[in-house]
Amino acid sequence: MIGAQAAPSADRSSSRQDAAEAIHVENLHKRFGNLHVLKGVSLSARDGEVIAIIGGSGSGKSTLLRCINCLENPTSGIIRVNGEEIRLKADSHGHTVPADRRQIERIRSKLGMVFQSFNLWSHMTLIENVIEVPIHVLKVPRAEAVATAEKLLERVGLADKRDVYPAFLSGGQQQRGAIARALAIQPRVMLFDEPTSALDPELVGEVLKVIADLAHEGRTMVLVTHEMKFAREVASHVVYLYNGLVEEEGPPEQLFGAPRSERLKQFLRNVS
Ligand SMILES: Nc1ncnc2c1ncn2[C@@H]1O[C@H](COP(=O)(O)OP(=O)(O)OP(=O)(O)O)[C@@H](O)[C@H]1O
Ligand SMILES: [Mg+2]
Repeated sequence: MIGAQAAPSADRSSSRQDAAEAIHVENLHKRFGNLHVLKGVSLSARDGEVIAIIGGSGSGKSTLLRCINCLENPTSGIIRVNGEEIRLKADSHGHTVPADRRQIERIRSKLGMVFQSFNLWSHMTLIENVIEVPIHVLKVPRAEAVATAEKLLERVGLADKRDVYPAFLSGGQQQRGAIARALAIQPRVMLFDEPTSALDPELVGEVLKVIADLAHEGRTMVLVTHEMKFAREVASHVVYLYNGLVEEEGPPEQLFGAPRSERLKQFLRNVS
């Protein structure tokens, strides 16, 4: 199994309490100028857990993921990835910036990120997309990178498309290719930001199937999704963000089956 985290998948909740924390977020604040987007968010993803983040548009879901993989610099708070705390400093304007660029690269190499819009490199074939970072950044020998990439493409159902350019792939195929590319760095955690929301409805299922397979094999994931049925099925823990704060969190049966917060109840009524 390529790059899989060693964790059994049968029990998705309680037995993970002792597992190591792959991601730890504590009291995270993010401001864009006067806009206070994250107002003290805490979150933890232990090995083998699937954390689903749900919430209305503008609640801060993408910003939270982008802070975790260092695409945004938090205003304050603690983020640890793979046990390593992201070190930040203030620049001459008082903005928070990374204290150590190499650390950011190291942390990113532990995270596989899949965005809403398929972001395969258009000038490369599918397999070139998948081997690019392993060969040029991680210095994996070419033959090994190609062998791994072929297995990953087979796994996401794209073995026959290895030499095709992204423009000739459907949206669902491109997104599955993007997942294969993210897996190729053997990340400790996969981060998904609404991976199916830009897809035509008939293509959503094939991408969710690939993500569900990853969840069932015990891969650690943080997943922002609008697919509530899917979140309920694959998540071990669900976090509902409202206006930059965790309004309610818990196991999926509780969040979806017996929500306590009025805002969450309203949200679930609106999305179902
Ligand atoms: N780079 C930025 N500069 C200024 N404001 C931003 C920036 N990025 C996000 N925001 C603002 O932060 C708030 C949260 O945005 P974010 O993208 O995190 O929401 P979201 O929960 O992912 O929403 P959606 O479900 O629509 O994707 C929004 O009000 C957004 O306009
Ligand atoms: Mg978003």
